Amino acid sequence: MSAQSSIFYNSAASESSIGNPPGRDPLDFHRRLSGYEPTALIDAPALAENLGIGRVWVKDESSRLGLPAFKILGASWAIYSELQKRADLDRWNTIDELAALLEGLQPMTLSAATDGNHGRAVARMAALLGFDATIYVPAGTSQARIDAITSEDASVTVVDGTYDEAVARSAEDAGERCLVISDTSWTGYEDVPRRVIDGYSTILWEVDDQLAKQSEAGPDIVVVQIGVGALASAVVSHYRQSGRGHYPRIVGVEPTVANCMLASMRAGEIVTIPGPQDSIMAGLNCGTPSMLAWPVVSAGVDVFVEIDDDRAREAMRSLAGVGVVAGETGAAGLGGLIELLVGPEAEQGREFLGVNAETRVLLFVTEGATDPESYAEIVGRQDEPLQ
Ligand SMILES: Cc1ncc(COP(=O)(O)O)c(C=O)c1O
Repeated sequence: MSAQSSIFYNSAASESSIGNPPGRDPLDFHRRLSGYEPTALIDAPALAENLGIGRVWVKDESSRLGLPAFKILGASWAIYSELQKRADLDRWNTIDELAALLEGLQPMTLSAATDGNHGRAVARMAALLGFDATIYVPAGTSQARIDAITSEDASVTVVDGTYDEAVARSAEDAGERCLVISDTSWTGYEDVPRRVIDGYSTILWEVDDQLAKQSEAGPDIVVVQIGVGALASAVVSHYRQSGRGHYPRIVGVEPTVANCMLASMRAGEIVTIPGPQDSIMAGLNCGTPSMLAWPVVSAGVDVFVEIDDDRAREAMRSLAGVGVVAGETGAAGLGGLIELLVGPEAEQGREFLGVNAETRVLLFVTEGATDPESYAEIVGRQDEPLQ
């Protein structure tokens, strides 16, 4: 394989149990939030046919707890877990009752760095709980994404630098009256990002329940987007938990200009790649893998694929064609699958993963049209779901 390959085959990936999956506690917590309902698991035969495989299931996170991305699952569980250390939160049934139990902690600010979705989720939780929110975004963040965060009553600061620099700026806020809610981890800061990862398990339990209801066996391949690797870490721990019986192969997808996990795999250790990370897949524009995610992702993801922006655009259009509104980052999973199964290295990719006409793939559309203007430009119409 040449150094230019867009694919890294992880022959050392293990099928044994990896990580510490959280069980159903996060799901039980999310069920108590207003507006909770499982997101749709869509069977997309047209996509499967185009890719020459048996099934494509799309877990559609374009609307989750009132926001256009899955990230509130991690942010809410991490915030709740941090607050449990500071107040007695045993008895509540609604978010307003939870907010009432937190009155003694006021004034409190939640601080986060974001490419868009995580910060908006933290800001939404802060507003629901009666806290303030300070959100840092990297230079170049689109105005639509900044406006979306501001609409949650948060104060937004544009950091003159990359996502990693925004993370460093947010970390400086930590204090008695300010909780830093980061989805990435560093030495000495692990509790919150661990809970963020745990919070994402709700998506995976829902998929299990949805497939079980249809008497379907689990997928053969699961494709997941990678920014800092928190979502991928949740996917690995879930599907590699002991006793599941059927272990799917796992594929991770990153933008070429933000391929920090793939670069780390090649290096055999965590590396920071040079910026700027300016892919249209804004949620994946990260330069350094999460320290916490790295051991799990590097041991459990079978194939790492990098894609350019055109692949993401192609995937957005394909998803629109089957009625799914996927933003740039949301469509990246399908983009990676296309690269792997019909791109220049398709033969090797198919062979490595044992792909055939029966293969069942699970994808996550992790966000909707979070930048509506860009969505309309790429897909050629507004973000109205097709019938
Ligand atoms: C929509 C979307 N999908 C996927 C990801 C990747 O998640 P992670 O950073 O946990 O790898 C992000 C991260 O912000 C995101 O916003």
